[in-house]
Amino acid sequence: MKKIEILKQIVKEAGTIVKKGYHANKEILHKGVVDLVTQYDVETENFLLKALKAHFPEYHLVGEESHHGGFEYQKAIYIDPIDGTTNFIHGIPHLAISLGAWEENEPIMGIVYNPILDEMFWALKGEGAYCNGVKLHVSTQNILQQSLIATGFPYAKVNAGIEYHWVIDSMSRLLPHIQDIRRLGAAAIDLCYLAQGKTEGFYEVDLKPWDVAAGILVVLEAGGKVTDLNGGSYRFGSKSIVATNGAIHQQLLAHLAKI
Ligand code: IPD
Ligand code: CA
Ligand code: CA
Repeated sequence: MKKIEILKQIVKEAGTIVKKGYHANKEILHKGVVDLVTQYDVETENFLLKALKAHFPEYHLVGEESHHGGFEYQKAIYIDPIDGTTNFIHGIPHLAISLGAWEENEPIMGIVYNPILDEMFWALKGEGAYCNGVKLHVSTQNILQQSLIATGFPYAKVNAGIEYHWVIDSMSRLLPHIQDIRRLGAAAIDLCYLAQGKTEGFYEVDLKPWDVAAGILVVLEAGGKVTDLNGGSYRFGSKSIVATNGAIHQQLLAHLAKI
């Protein structure tokens, strides 16, 4: 069986744990003031670690709830067991399991699965991006004023420090020049919706590799573009990420504040 098919099966099975948790009472723990985790984030990650270790022993496994240390490995799978935990806790069905395999700092395989809506996005380097069997293409919109832009607010906002000021500053510069803003609550899905042509762009600061490792490949394989705020290559450890359909990339960068 092809690697991607094995990965899809593993993620589907992990989805049953997330779905069970979505409808159940949850124990909520605080990793930070507003950064939450439940027993289902941990249970899902443990399931994924065990299954991936058995099928992909050559990859280093980097999971949000268990990893300590650096992010750059020759071969690694970056795991977000539930991207959109705040939505998960509040009963908003916008969340996903995200698994992105990278080799030599390049994304090669990615899956973003929303088990509540049974929506599976996946991409393979050089073979395109898909959602439930339908090939994805970014939108062709090239006018920023007609573009729908998604973003997210970093957990560090609670400190009202530079990240908070950057969020507010960027939004006040950008809002008059775009169609509207969306803050949907799951960065991995933000990237997939961009790939699907539902939005034209996405930007955020302070994201971690497990938030974006799969979604970046979905965007690239759908014909989109991913950089940092300065237009340079995005790397794990970059403070910012900006992803677009390509056509509005420079216009979006021009309106965002620097951090
Ligand atoms: C978060 C979501 C959110 C983004 C945050 C992420 P989590 O991931 O992707 O949309 O704004 O920055 O940390 O904590 O739900 O896995
Ligand atoms: Ca996440
Ligand atoms: Ca998470």
